[in-house]
Amino acid sequence: MKILFLTHSFNSLTQRLFAELAALGHEVSVEFDIADSVSEEAVALFQPDLILAPFLKRAIPESIWRQHVCLIVHPGIVGDRGPSALDWAIQSGETEWGVTVLQAEAAMDAGPVWATATFPMRQAKKASLYRQEVTEAAVSAVKAALARFECGEPPTALAACSDARGQLRPVMRQADRALDWQCDDTATILRKMDAADGFPGVADRLFDQPCHLYDAWPEAQLRGTPGAVIGQRETAVCRATLDGAIWIGHVRRPDGFKLPTTMAFAAECTAVPDVPLDGWFAADHATWQDIRYEEADGVGFLHFDFYNGAMGTRQCERLTAAFRFAAQRPTKVIVLMGGRDFWSNGIHLNLIEAARSPADESWANINAIDDLAEAILRCETHLTVAAVGANAGAGGCFLARACDQVWIREGVILNPHYKNMGNLYGSEFWTYLLPQRVGVAGAAALMQHRLPMSANEAVRLGFYDAVLPAPTFRAEVARRAAELLKDDVSWQLEEKQQARAADEAVKPLAVWRAEELAAMRRNFYGFDPSYHVARWHFVAKSPQSWTPRHLARHRLY
Ligand code: COA
Repeated sequence: MKILFLTHSFNSLTQRLFAELAALGHEVSVEFDIADSVSEEAVALFQPDLILAPFLKRAIPESIWRQHVCLIVHPGIVGDRGPSALDWAIQSGETEWGVTVLQAEAAMDAGPVWATATFPMRQAKKASLYRQEVTEAAVSAVKAALARFECGEPPTALAACSDARGQLRPVMRQADRALDWQCDDTATILRKMDAADGFPGVADRLFDQPCHLYDAWPEAQLRGTPGAVIGQRETAVCRATLDGAIWIGHVRRPDGFKLPTTMAFAAECTAVPDVPLDGWFAADHATWQDIRYEEADGVGFLHFDFYNGAMGTRQCERLTAAFRFAAQRPTKVIVLMGGRDFWSNGIHLNLIEAARSPADESWANINAIDDLAEAILRCETHLTVAAVGANAGAGGCFLARACDQVWIREGVILNPHYKNMGNLYGSEFWTYLLPQRVGVAGAAALMQHRLPMSANEAVRLGFYDAVLPAPTFRAEVARRAAELLKDDVSWQLEEKQQARAADEAVKPLAVWRAEELAAMRRNFYGFDPSYHVARWHFVAKSPQSWTPRHLARHRLY
């Protein structure tokens, strides 16, 4: 079928559906919901069999839904209506939630139901639930709806749905989210902050200054006067609650953008006591720990849960130190686990934007991430594995490829290209790592197309090595890593060293790196400001004003 996506943006769910439906053989084109007339034009150009709205913030114009079947993906159970579906579900402590695919009609979210899928709720940030459970449920509901549509079966009127237990709820306002540090317990504060993450955050005050709070983590040991800031660690601050404490990882100050808390309040934090953790091993109690090392069955697991997968200069330096620590342990395999919601999205664009000299900070950050990639590539003591259990973008995709093996969770979406960020050339040794896996033409195509890639596609192309099933991903990673130890490890390490030495003789890593960085230097310091402009729009979340041609394929006709 020809399926037109009408969407507010090409967000993670839209990317996943794009990849899934293309893999089923459908012809998919995308139009951003910018103006009714532009959507009407897209429909006229593409002549779709079906219109799908994976992520829409307003109603589809009547001129379109009267003429075409339009399926809306609503992140709520059957009967749920309104723009804050997930927020209310989290804040009111629902134990099961779902996604419903319904047909667009005059009343928002009240059309007949094509399909639905449910999932048990997890205590997690809204954006995390959206990228994991909601996305999986949406994929299965959309596929069921398409199957129903293709065989001519009509949808079920909402009133006839026996499982319609949802209700119409208003937009959640800041008054509904307000934190009361004197009365709310830790669980309540966590729930309210989770329901607002990553957008819009909870409006509050920190150091007696107005700001929006994000990225909350429970703390089991530190205590203090409710509401007081009682400690800091790297990028986060710890604030006492009525019955415990929570860490606040990120804030947004008025007229600013989201930043790590200790950087947004750098001056205020000088008076806050530092409460570092001792070494890299995983703490034995609930706390905020962005880099965490564990060992099991002779395998070292390095977790790095950086908010939004963004890796600033200091985070890269610390992760390199943690990797070197792991490489000195009496193990033979190191698995780089990434974070729960992203494996890595490359250099930290918000920190770069906030720097006094964004060009200098870009340069420092790309060198720091290259140092990490190089440490992995040059590691002779251990076999290295990247376990890509969550989405990755740009440099993050190539950082994973620096490992000897890359295992990816089914359903993960990769964006292994840089051009969307103002024609950035990219580094992280992609010029060395990518062509040897997918060929020179394949590498050029990937970089040019700038499209998301599914886990299955990454392995089919040879970019990554294995797709592992989603529900058992972690267990399967641990099992396979332990299995590597069963074969003669010293022989495997010798083979790896020989391969690296042979590559080094043809062209040293230092040369690959210098060539990439020469191009990056032009991106950062050269005449063409595209990267700086694109980064500013990305960080400032500028609204879309047109759909890029690589997505709006109907406009190429
Ligand atoms: N630096 C800082 N923040 C980043 C980031 C980065 N490299 N990559 C993603 N983010 C943030 C986004 O701003 C967003 O923030 P929010 O919580 O305030 O909404 C959040 O992470 C999720 O990103 P989003 O773009 O909404 O996710 P997505 O799944 O729709 O798209 C990507 C994923 C990777 C395609 C997209 O985030 C992207 O292009 N990132 C930039 C990658 C890049 O160019 N890195 C630098 C070169 S190495």
